[in-house]
Amino acid sequence: MSNEKKPLIIISSRTGNTMMLGHALCDALPGSTLVRPADLPEDLSGYDPVLLGFWCDRGHAPEEMERAAERLRGKRIGCFATMGGNPQDEKARVWMQRTAEELVRKGEGNTLEGTFLCRGRIDPEVFERMTAMMGGRASPEREARRAAAETHPDRLDLARCVEAFRSVFGANF
Ligand SMILES: Cc1cc2nc3c(=O)[nH]c(=O)nc-3n(C[C@H](O)[C@H](O)[C@H](O)COP(=O)(O)O)c2cc1C
Repeated sequence: MSNEKKPLIIISSRTGNTMMLGHALCDALPGSTLVRPADLPEDLSGYDPVLLGFWCDRGHAPEEMERAAERLRGKRIGCFATMGGNPQDEKARVWMQRTAEELVRKGEGNTLEGTFLCRGRIDPEVFERMTAMMGGRASPEREARRAAAETHPDRLDLARCVEAFRSVFGANF
């Protein structure tokens, strides 16, 4: 049993939203390790599956997550993310799937096993800055999107995220 592989959770989080999901997963998975991309262990051979958690950064995964993904070989991978927009939108779903596939392809011999996406509170300072750049006033649609994201991730997001990966990797995951 002692040489069984352990789950590794790699988190890129600027304001803490994605880190909340990472902690929920880490709590739910005995033996798992949670790290930031900068602290990725040298030897990754003892880890599987690997969960990549990140935030939507202008339509991309953060660069540090791309660098981490390059180091993965022969892993079962789950990807999860938070975003300011509506995760139910078709565009958001497509973004999540495409971004996850791109990350998995950065390494070698990895397989994408599942994804999860939810809203994440937008840093007010960032929202103000973007509003100023867009002419100084948030449209009703933008304001509604911001308000909808304000309380996420919430308890249900955390539970759904854990359940999504439990169902993919099984009870012993
Ligand atoms: C620089 C920057 C760019 C962002 N770009 C997008 C975006 O393109 N689409 C979106 O839905 N949310 C975007 N967001 C919102 C974040 O993805 C969202 O708030 C996320 O939950 C932040 O996660 P974190 O707290 O783990 O850093 C952006 C936020 C920042 C700071």
